[in-house]
Amino acid sequence: MEQTLKGKHIVLGISGGIAAYKSAFLLRLFIKAGAEVQVVITPNGKEFITPATLAALSGKPVVSEFFAANTGEWHSHVDLGLWSDLMVIAPATASTIGKMANGIADNMLITTYLSAKSRVMVAPAMDLDMWAHPSTQRNIATLESYGVEIIMPASGELASHLVGKGRMEEPEIILKRVEEHFSRRESMKGKKILVTAGPTYENIDPVRFIGNYSSGKMGFSIAEEAAARGAEVTLVAGPVSLETKNPRITRIDVRSARQMLEAAVDAFKECDAAILSAAVADYAPESCSDTKLKRENTNGLTIKLVKNPDIAATLGERKGNKILVGFALETDHEHDNAMKKMKNKNLDMIVLNSLQNPLAGFNKDTNQVTVIKACGTEKAYSAKSKRDVARDILDEMESIN
Ligand code: PMT
Repeated sequence: MEQTLKGKHIVLGISGGIAAYKSAFLLRLFIKAGAEVQVVITPNGKEFITPATLAALSGKPVVSEFFAANTGEWHSHVDLGLWSDLMVIAPATASTIGKMANGIADNMLITTYLSAKSRVMVAPAMDLDMWAHPSTQRNIATLESYGVEIIMPASGELASHLVGKGRMEEPEIILKRVEEHFSRRESMKGKKILVTAGPTYENIDPVRFIGNYSSGKMGFSIAEEAAARGAEVTLVAGPVSLETKNPRITRIDVRSARQMLEAAVDAFKECDAAILSAAVADYAPESCSDTKLKRENTNGLTIKLVKNPDIAATLGERKGNKILVGFALETDHEHDNAMKKMKNKNLDMIVLNSLQNPLAGFNKDTNQVTVIKACGTEKAYSAKSKRDVARDILDEMESIN
């Protein structure tokens, strides 16, 4: 087997689910690929797989308790956190994910996670209803906002014999994600990237606005992925409820298209590339009332709308040899419309997503995109999590020279 992970230090966290038996195979794959692996297992994890098996495969004693049973020696989570080049938690149960999202440091695995300076990947495994529960989904979103990479569970038969989403991804696929992580890690180091995300709100009066359903999830995923590749990211975000904690992301919050234009034009001067995923309102009310418009004073209401500036086209005019990537959100004649937008806005690449697709578009956790490049190439991707879509988009962007 190729030594793709030679010299890499990996902390493999194992929590208490039936998928823990797959962790032995994953550990074996890491070792065969040349990595040095330290296993950290939760007390419940040991009910599913023995530390003896994992110690034999890794060639290192397994860490589980804060103090070693025989010597009373303290296991330092801080040292482990500093030692690791990557922490992979597989399987991650709903409980472990919840503790990670909320900083509940009651076992070695969570304290190591909280101390980790390296990238962290999580491969959830649980029953389908636990996976679908809003609390699990909220915790997953929180971890993503902390820059944790989620290796989404697969669908199939579960330990409960129910069929659905919740199976831990196969060890070979997790290995591939780990290899990709190390090969991409520094690929955008030294680059400055502008990302726009979310909707814009155009005020009608102090309580009303024209907006759209964009959640910002697509743009925030792109920003996180670019930062994970070493880029310094300026994220210009419309009104969204998402968080960013990544020190490589500088976030500028705006509300209207005009504010987004101003922030984007300013940031673009220093940037090497821009990815414009924001859903910018094309029109805004000609004027905004200072006081709340009263129902009693009118028989009906006509609001005159004026065209907003086109941010993508404005950056397109001043792009020089910078790379400019836009999105096209379409409901019909998708391909033709995307091609027109790419040409009219002087883009190097356009990411087409269609509202006809139930797995794509506004406020979904998934997207399904076709990437079209000005040089004439085109690739349709399957539906994936927005973070995985972000990865595909950046791979495509990085291949433009
Ligand atoms: O935020 P999410 O809920 O995750 O949803 C993601 C998304 C659906 C918003 C995203 O994937 C997406 O498609 N973003 C672009 C939405 C859009 O406004 O598309 P458009 O086809 O109208 O615009 C084309 C391009 O021009 C886009 O890059 C847009 O950012 C840009 N534009 C549009 C109008 C305008 N006045 N200025 C612009 O810069």
